[in-house]
Amino acid sequence: MNEYLSFYEKYKISPVVQDIDNFKEHVRRRNNLYRQLGASHLIFKDKDILEIGPGGGYNALVTYSYGPKTYTLIEPSTQGYHELKNNFKNLDKNVFIFNEMLEEFKAIKQYDIIICEGLIPGLSSKEQFIKIIQSLLKPNGIFIMTTSDQVSVFFEIIRKYMANVLIKDIEDIDEKVKILVDSFSSHLDTLKGMTRSYSDWCLDNLVGDAILEHTLSINDAIELLKNNYILGISPNIFNNYSWYKQLPTNTFEYNQVFQEQMLEKWHNFIDYRFIQKDRDYKSNIELSKYCLELIKAIKNSDDKIKIVDILEKIKINLKSDIEKETLLAIEEAIEVINDSITPTKIKNMKFFNSAFGRGQAYISFVKENIDYE
Ligand SMILES: C[S@@+](CC[C@H](N)C(=O)[O-])C[C@H]1O[C@@H](n2cnc3c(N)ncnc32)[C@H](O)[C@@H]1O
Repeated sequence: MNEYLSFYEKYKISPVVQDIDNFKEHVRRRNNLYRQLGASHLIFKDKDILEIGPGGGYNALVTYSYGPKTYTLIEPSTQGYHELKNNFKNLDKNVFIFNEMLEEFKAIKQYDIIICEGLIPGLSSKEQFIKIIQSLLKPNGIFIMTTSDQVSVFFEIIRKYMANVLIKDIEDIDEKVKILVDSFSSHLDTLKGMTRSYSDWCLDNLVGDAILEHTLSINDAIELLKNNYILGISPNIFNNYSWYKQLPTNTFEYNQVFQEQMLEKWHNFIDYRFIQKDRDYKSNIELSKYCLELIKAIKNSDDKIKIVDILEKIKINLKSDIEKETLLAIEEAIEVINDSITPTKIKNMKFFNSAFGRGQAYISFVKENIDYE
């Protein structure tokens, strides 16, 4: 069992509920996402779709509204499955819901489109999981997934460390959430367009440990999906000026142009508020190494001196290539960690409170059709 499942099953929770009271707006937001991924409504219509780990299916309801031929959903958590069954109770004509893990799923066919959102980055065995998904996808099929890496969750990882300190002696889960919501509400207040409750956000990111596995960069995903062409990405950070007749026709070279750009843009993922100029890829490789060290330090110990030392290195690495506000946020985090981490101090942070990473990026891939190509 992975970090998500063991945590969700221990407390029988599914902390990924979304506020979809304004369903039309929810649909419009999802339409925007799919558009950026090169997948408009018509791509889903009359197709066999598989979604892995949909939770209660709040996003799946929109995908279903595009009119697939069949919609198969695999959700192993007890609470997620319960919500999913409920959300689809009047729509189950061509919907097949399985209460099991992908690893247990016995497929009888391949699918045109596979969606797996907010799951793979939290797994420790990412490669094996992606192999199973690839075996279920038809040639020319589309696979939509999320990535999330050590740079894009840097500020959330610092919050995770602060949360660990705040709740380390608390047993009761509700009490933990209460303390965290109280401490971090002033931070979450700065996020526009949030559709999850603060308590779900705190449970998922600050109480559960899956975020400490979030080391799957866009480039890692491209490596793992070697026989696929990139179709789209959200946020849409790449350029490609090539005339289509001059584009490479094999997946490796076709995707390489994106991988090279990613290395020069990686620091842009650290703080969603700003867009920075590209920089030397070596600085970004160093940045990602430090961010990974930070995750390891938090996972294996709560050695405050080591954590502050890594944050200082990250500050130096970013110094001349990033906005002043981002540096002030890191400095303020160092100050609080050095001094003492308390709910009041966290609540009253002036710079760190609005610093969040870009979190997850979505990528869509098209599977190579080996027979044809
Ligand atoms: C963080 S939640 C994301 C839920 C939803 N996709 C979203 O983006 O809001 C991860 C989901 O993956 C499910 N999950 C965990 N391990 C799984 C596995 N091995 N196979 C299928 N689903 C899994 C969890 O139960 C949970 O519902």
